[in-house]
Amino acid sequence: MTTPATMQAAVLVAPGRFELRQVPVPTLAPNEVLIKVSRCGLCGTDIHIYQGHYSADKLPLIPGHEFSGWVVETGSDVDDVEIGTAVTADINVGCGRCFYCRKNEILNCRTMAQIGIHVNGGLAEYVKVPVSHLVRIPPRTPIEMGALVEPVSCIVRAVKKSRLRLGESVLILGAGPIGNLHLQLARAVGAAPIIVSEPNPGRAAWASRSGADVVVSDPEQLQAAVMEATGGRGADLVIESVGLPALYEQAFDLVRPGGRVLAFGLADQEAQARYHPFKVVLGEIGLQGSVAGMGDDMHEAMTLVAHDRVRLEEFAQVVYPLADISRAMEAFVSDKSINKVQIAVA
Ligand SMILES: NC(=O)c1ccc[n+]([C@@H]2O[C@H](COP(=O)([O-])OP(=O)(O)OC[C@H]3O[C@@H](n4cnc5c(N)ncnc54)[C@H](O)[C@@H]3O)[C@@H](O)[C@H]2O)c1
Ligand SMILES: [Zn+2]
Ligand SMILES: [Zn+2]
Repeated sequence: MTTPATMQAAVLVAPGRFELRQVPVPTLAPNEVLIKVSRCGLCGTDIHIYQGHYSADKLPLIPGHEFSGWVVETGSDVDDVEIGTAVTADINVGCGRCFYCRKNEILNCRTMAQIGIHVNGGLAEYVKVPVSHLVRIPPRTPIEMGALVEPVSCIVRAVKKSRLRLGESVLILGAGPIGNLHLQLARAVGAAPIIVSEPNPGRAAWASRSGADVVVSDPEQLQAAVMEATGGRGADLVIESVGLPALYEQAFDLVRPGGRVLAFGLADQEAQARYHPFKVVLGEIGLQGSVAGMGDDMHEAMTLVAHDRVRLEEFAQVVYPLADISRAMEAFVSDKSINKVQIAVA
């Protein structure tokens, strides 16, 4: 099959303004492959980019970092990938050689670029990626599920960073799509009880359906509910999955002495939160950040998805064609009953 010279792409030309353009199909370096995009998900990061709060200096940009599709062309050095292979990709591309790349802490690499965030991504008919970053989608797994592996990989990394394990109690602050995935993987590792705090009724109900042991919708009730569910101690692990400094502060009142707080929700870049060093020392409380999912995190997430350890049906229900990207983004921004939007490209 020959690849066309140009392709349709959703180009974000300025904050709030997508243009559907005919642009050249990416040309490949020897170690790259070309993917014909099937699905591409939108997430909160895309909203930040769309509104001009993130990566604004990279515009015009083709966003999209949650894509799946099929390999249609390989660079001259690639001899181990068959045309037609179903794939998704690790979007975090570093130099591959530095201290941070060696440790799979690629976001700290000086030359790091994320596909769909810093360089052109999957809201187009084709996207190119380094062959080293391909993640194969097994034959039994629907291609649209492959486009959900990237968000799952962020939670896989978070579970590792937080060292969450069997029998530990966990409190998840915020049950948006990402909080829901925290909940599902907490169940998968055998954490109990799982307490979720979520004021939005639709999302609170989703958390219940997804297996939360306790769902708290009224913030005023949270402290009491957490203490009741944890023998009056507080949770072994508190996950902040909203991005509010006030919640980061509250997390330290809800974690047990000896427990950990996982910093996951993205607050404004300049925002600050306070904590009590004395309490942290005497309580031996841990604070751990976790960002993105990369390298093995992606492959492990793919394995979990392929073996149905996460339920993703409710993430693949709102689907728009590429031509409707502006409508899709506006709906995603304004309607909080939508948990996830996917763009069907092919
Ligand atoms: N660290 C990472 O690798 C990573 C990866 C993906 C997303 N994120 C971040 O995770 C966060 C969650 O992502 P999302 O897509 O689910 O976002 P979202 O905005 O869709 O969901 C946030 C949820 O928090 C709820 N909420 C608001 N105030 C609350 C409060 N006081 N207490 C409890 N819940 C409250 C909202 O009702 C909403 O359902 C965002 O900040 C996002 O940027 C981080
Ligand atoms: Zn994302
Ligand atoms: Zn590097």
